[in-house]
Amino acid sequence: MKRIAFLTSGGDSPGMNACIRAIVKNCLHQDIQPVGIRDGFNGIMHGDFWEMTYDDVNNIIQSGGTILGTARSEDFKDAEKRKKGLTYLLKNKIDALIVIGGDGSFAGANAISNEIGIPVIGVPATIDNDIYGTDQTVGFDTALNTVVEAVDKIRDTASSHKRIFFVEVMGRDSGYLALKSAVASGAEMVLIPEEETNIEKLAIQLKNQNQGKRGSIVIVAEGDDAGGSMDIIGKVKPHMEDFDLRATVLGHIQRGGRPSAYDRILATTMGAEAVDILIAGKKNVMVGHVAGKIKYVDLIQGIKLHALPDKGKLDLLDKLRTKNSSK
Ligand code: F6P
Repeated sequence: MKRIAFLTSGGDSPGMNACIRAIVKNCLHQDIQPVGIRDGFNGIMHGDFWEMTYDDVNNIIQSGGTILGTARSEDFKDAEKRKKGLTYLLKNKIDALIVIGGDGSFAGANAISNEIGIPVIGVPATIDNDIYGTDQTVGFDTALNTVVEAVDKIRDTASSHKRIFFVEVMGRDSGYLALKSAVASGAEMVLIPEEETNIEKLAIQLKNQNQGKRGSIVIVAEGDDAGGSMDIIGKVKPHMEDFDLRATVLGHIQRGGRPSAYDRILATTMGAEAVDILIAGKKNVMVGHVAGKIKYVDLIQGIKLHALPDKGKLDLLDKLRTKNSSK
């Protein structure tokens, strides 16, 4: 193992830089040349490779985003275009590849391994936390804290004006971030793609809950089957004419910012581990973290299976919802 390449792919997530730093430092420690690839799989297509040094990863553990850049590469899905791109990996004498991203990125890594036979390792990094085989993905904890901080602020104005706020959080296909942030912010309700939304029932529950109450928060996952926060307000308003409803879309602020200590530790542990297991001869696995310990999952499983949010938390929110409030 002389040259290990790595890239970040898909939506960026806080902690990706900490992971890059750990890979670079562990490679150099073991006399391996770390080779960063810029802009995700697009960098393979264009041969955009960067032989990295200690200096390149100084002072990046605390920064959000990714110094390598990232992309959702459509071209890479095209087998013909990919073939040309893969010649750059061969020309650059890359012995192995680490892909930091979500399950779509792992599918790209798997295709590379099938086509040119090099070992690949996946490091799960996405704010969605929807990856099978790990308790948490790099970036989820930071995004969760960002949402909770925002909801705390929204609650101030919601209660001052006695309004019901529908706060939309990211999660095109997953309600993980929505559910956890609902519990952590004390939201009254949550709508997630994994659970069918019944608008009439929602209106009844909100009305019961809000008799005299000083405002409420409903967290909406962007991928909910009834739509985003604006759509839901449009549907629910005819059933609750007397209530003051507002929508807030948190958007990409959830993807940025300084990674939390938890994400830095997770990213550093997983990045360093990815290098160690390549040296030890492992291939085509994802590095997971379960119950405080590193676990490996076959990359194919990581691609095919998805982590689902714990629906028990919906019951928990039900239990905590105010009954016949008079304040
Ligand atoms: O990276 C995951 C994610 O943040 C999803 O939660 C969200 O639906 C999507 O990316 C947004 O992607 P983009 O930034 O490409 O619009």
